[in-house]
Amino acid sequence: MAEIVDFKEKVAQLGEVGFLDIHIDPTLDLFAEIDRLKKEKNAVLLAHYYQEADIQDIADYIGDSLQLAQKAASTTADIILFAGVHFMAETAKILNPTKKVILPDLKAGCSLADSCPPQEFAAFKKKFPGYAVVSYINCSAEIKALSDYICTSSNAEFIINAIPADRGIIFAPDKNLGAYLSKKLNREMVLWDGSCMVHEIFSLEKIVRLQEKHPKAKMIAHPECEAAILDIADYIGSTTNLLKYTISDEAQEYIVATETGILHKMQEASPHKTFIPAPPNNSCACNDCPHMKLNTLEKIYLCLKYELPELLMDEELRLQAKLPIDRMLEISAAAGLKG
Ligand code: 13P
Ligand code: SF4
Repeated sequence: MAEIVDFKEKVAQLGEVGFLDIHIDPTLDLFAEIDRLKKEKNAVLLAHYYQEADIQDIADYIGDSLQLAQKAASTTADIILFAGVHFMAETAKILNPTKKVILPDLKAGCSLADSCPPQEFAAFKKKFPGYAVVSYINCSAEIKALSDYICTSSNAEFIINAIPADRGIIFAPDKNLGAYLSKKLNREMVLWDGSCMVHEIFSLEKIVRLQEKHPKAKMIAHPECEAAILDIADYIGSTTNLLKYTISDEAQEYIVATETGILHKMQEASPHKTFIPAPPNNSCACNDCPHMKLNTLEKIYLCLKYELPELLMDEELRLQAKLPIDRMLEISAAAGLKG
């Protein structure tokens, strides 16, 4: 089992710093302090595009899941501070056993990763002997250890195409991405029934009504969305590919069916264009990932200052989980993919 050292528990155990120290002086310039601590400790701050704007602005590297895994694999920093969710920090640790990997909030999980419990998946896998197991990187280390290949939304097509056509494929845990790939690549796959709470929430009816109001807007969607949403999209792609598309495409308006964090970079790259978040099927801000958004500048500062919470991992599990990630990185490098 991957082991987590909890921030408060560890701080209390150490007895070096009282809890009062955890209240941050409101006059502190957090941007300057984080920058100073990064230099002092030779730490690198990796952030996913779904992080809030301030975190994206202070990060050393911002990227989608593939780019961040590649960066985690190649960094020379002593400390990797991962502003994303738990499975991303876990991937960084799998690739860097000797580096310290810290994450701002232990509770930053992932509904998609949670939808695939290892014991149930192991039993499912047994029903299809000889099949290649391709798992989306949004899964636990235990699921990675049960997989032959890991993929992200940027490289999934290359990974599937690298598997001989006569070999059966189990795809986990995202049934929407799996169904999209199966249709696009004309490849039968057995799908695990998991999904992302953010990408499943979009309302087809509301998007269609929005399209009527904005007839020139292009609809762009992440492949974790349901088929009905993907069917009406003008472009489907990973977070980075959606961003690239809005830069190279000529339209002036976009309806964006993915997590809202990416709108920060889209707007920065194309200030004259309009980006409209696709509406969810209720009135909450459900296309904000509640896990990603647990991270704050304050937590990043504390995490860097105390180097906690730290992610630790059992070595046997790490080695088993590393194999399919290494295969993914090799196939991605051969395809010239940089996320
Ligand atoms: P990508 O970063 O591969 O676009 O995946 C999106 C996502 O849901 C990350 O949690
Ligand atoms: Fe998981 Fe979905 Fe949040 Fe990504 S956006 S971390 S897949 S819950």
